[in-house]
Order: sequence, then structure tokens, then C-alpha cells
Amino acid sequence: MEQFRIAGGKKLYGRVQIARAKNAVLPMMAAAILTDEPVVIRACPHITDVFAMAGILTYLGAVCEYREGDLILHPQGTQNKPLAQNLTGGLRSSVCMLGALLARFGSASIAFPGGCKIGTRPLDLHLGGLAAIGVHTHVDEGGLHSERTHSGGTVRFTFPSVGATENVLLAAALGEGETTIYNGAREPEVEDLARLLSAMGGDVKWKDGTYRIRGVRRLHGATFLPVADRIEAGTFLCMAASAGGEVQLDGVNEKFLTPLTEKIAGNGCKIYREYDRIIISRKDDLAAAGDVTTAPYPGFATDLQAQYAAVCATAKGTTNICESLFESRFAYAAELARMGADITVTHNTAHITGVPKLHGGTVFASDLRGGAALITAALGAEGETLVGGCKYVDRGYDNLVGKLRTLGADIRRLII
Ligand code: UD1
Repeated sequence: MEQFRIAGGKKLYGRVQIARAKNAVLPMMAAAILTDEPVVIRACPHITDVFAMAGILTYLGAVCEYREGDLILHPQGTQNKPLAQNLTGGLRSSVCMLGALLARFGSASIAFPGGCKIGTRPLDLHLGGLAAIGVHTHVDEGGLHSERTHSGGTVRFTFPSVGATENVLLAAALGEGETTIYNGAREPEVEDLARLLSAMGGDVKWKDGTYRIRGVRRLHGATFLPVADRIEAGTFLCMAASAGGEVQLDGVNEKFLTPLTEKIAGNGCKIYREYDRIIISRKDDLAAAGDVTTAPYPGFATDLQAQYAAVCATAKGTTNICESLFESRFAYAAELARMGADITVTHNTAHITGVPKLHGGTVFASDLRGGAALITAALGAEGETLVGGCKYVDRGYDNLVGKLRTLGADIRRLII
């Protein structure tokens, strides 16, 4: 077993290069099987979710290699094979293989996807969206068995699901029909997938959650630099706010982080923006900056909710954080309480009253962002914290320990 060991109370100073977005890279890996030619995902993060997705592609016959930080996908040998639970159960994005296999082969059979246990995470929007463009799906205990009966149609999502929008984009990119998606997800990572499909020769146009896709007969390879990881950047902002100091984030688009930067500025941190950099400086004590409700983009990201709660744990006053997307996203709250946080959860809202200092302790992460939140809290806490559940954090943060150590944090990874 592994643990992060953090000696809290060290201010963070320096610069950190933000990685490319996990949530952009994963559906792009699925998109690679829409062509026979190599697809190069530049500066691809080394995270276990990418390895799991590469495992799926390799099983199907593609070849995946890292070369000087780029992920090179050679999809020409890809075959249509059923994907069993041992392949799909490791991550939520495995569900994107449904749309990708349908586009390439006209049928797909995949076991249910996995991913962090943060809610029931149903698939009705995926299947409804695909049905609207001619995909018939039979669901049984073995998973999803889909077949394309015709191509194209109109999809009207009742909620702008990220994964469902991606699945329809993938399924619609190859073929004869024309597809329009209304109320699709507007997350930068979803638009980035549309951008990759265009770079591969696809005919995709989009604006404000409406996507128009004209299927094409073939797609070609591409070399593509995905969008920066706004969630990693937001996590570092929360870490700097919690620990204090001054940190510069390089290679990040501040526009994608405005709901968080506005809040953190309200908490008493100074935020400076320059080109593709954000500088955060925290010298004074933190104060509560009003309540937060998570929402689809461009709202406050649910993937930053836990890390921001860790900031609020030492912000004077009360902050209520309402989680509107996932019903079980507060597993970290009990762990923060073990570190001295005054946090209670009722229904979908965490009520946090800031205390002057958290103290160290032994805590466990049970999902990716919850794990990041515990590290965020530990960096600002008095004394030593041991955070278990490293495997969750490894799913989405490339070299987190190394980056934090560069900033002066006293964090190590222990094998116990
Ligand atoms: C993606 C992100 C995840 C992020 C989330 C919301 C990836 C790999 N993961 O997850 O990090 O937290 O977007 O920004 O990109 N829903 C349904 N039916 C469906 C699909 C979704 O009811 O068929 C519900 C979900 O239960 C949830 C909400 O819609 O309550 C949002 O889910 P969705 O946008 O689909 O998120 P994911 O694609 O799973």
C-alpha cells in the first residue's frame, strides 16, 4: 500500500507547468480508432486513466507508445471485439469506446464503465443521444450491445452531459448522415474533442453547446495538442490558497477557471493573469467568500468542489457548497473533519465553518478529487498528515508529488 506523507505548514513558492487535460485526452484516445493513420496526442499526461484507456486500445489491436512525452496511437490493426468489465471497469471514459466502435464498425459491445464512485452515473443520456442518431442498444448484465441502423439525426439533451455529448460526436463523425446536438456539453474538453475530429478531417461545427456534425467517409491521422488541464490548475490554486505563498501556473487559460479564481480572490488571495499564466499569492488569513453551487461549464466545476472545500475549511466564516451534479461527492468531508475541519453535510450541501488551522492526521481518499482535497488541506495543516488511497490521485495527476516538491512542499510518497 502507498501513502502520501505531508508535513504541513510550508508555504508554496515557484512555478508549475500545467499538464494537458485528462478529460480531453481520454475521449481523444477513443477517437483515434476512427482512422487507420497514426494519431499523436502531444504532451499527454502520464496518469493511470491514460494507461487504462491504452489497455483497451491495445486489446483491440492498436499500438500505443509514449515518445518524448507524446502519446502515439497506431490504430490500423484495430478490430471490433467485445470489451469486458476488466477493461471498461477501470474508468468512466471507457464508455466513449461505444461511440468510437459504432463509428468505425457499426456495432459495439462493451461492459459497463467504471470511474470514481461519486454517484449512480446512469447512461440514459448516452443511449438516448445515440438512439436519436440511429443506434439501437440492448442492455443486459453484461453491458451495452449497440448497433447502428442508420446515420444522423437530431439530439436534444435534457442535460448537457459531457460523456454523452462526446459519445454522439464520436458516433456521428463517420458515416453519411448529418447530426445536430442541442444542449450539448460546453466543457473546453468536449470542444477540444470536436477540434481533434476536425483536425482529422471531420466536419464538425459548434457554438454554445450546439454541435453540427456532417459524417464523412474517412478520417485521417493528426497531431494534436490538447487543452490545458483546468482541473489540475484549479487544484494548484486551491493548494496555494490553503498553504499560502506565491505560485505561478504556466500554460493555462484563466478564462476556463473564472468561477474558482473569483471565489479564491474573494477569500483574500491575489490573482494575477498574464497571457497563459496565472499567479496566485496568499499572504493574509482567508475569509469566507459566499456560497457555491456546482454546475456544468461555464459554472463552478464539480471536479474542483472538494479541493475548494479544503480551502474553505480555514476561511473565517461559513461557506455552503452545494453539489448539483453528483450525489455522492462528499466522501472527503468526514476525512477533513478528522483533521479538525468544522464540516457537516446535509443532502447535497456541505456546510463549512472555517477554523484557524487544521491539524494533521491519517486520512483516506476514496476518489480522485477527494484525494486532491485531502492533500490540499494537509499542505496548510499543522503537523504531519498521511493520506491513503494514492491510486485514486494517480488517475488524474501527473507527478503531483514532484510538482509540489518543486514548490517547496514537504510531501513524499511512502510504501507501507
Ligand atoms: C465528466 C468528467 C468528470 C466531470 C463530469 C462533470 C470525464 C472523463 N469525466 O464525467 O470528471 O466531473 O464530466 O463535469 O470527462 N448523467 C445522467 N445520465 C447520463 C449521463 C450523465 O443522468 O447518461 C448525469 C450524471 O449522473 C451526473 C451528470 O449527468 O449527475 C453529469 O454527468 P456527465 O456530464 O455525463 O459527466 P461524465 O461524462 O460522467
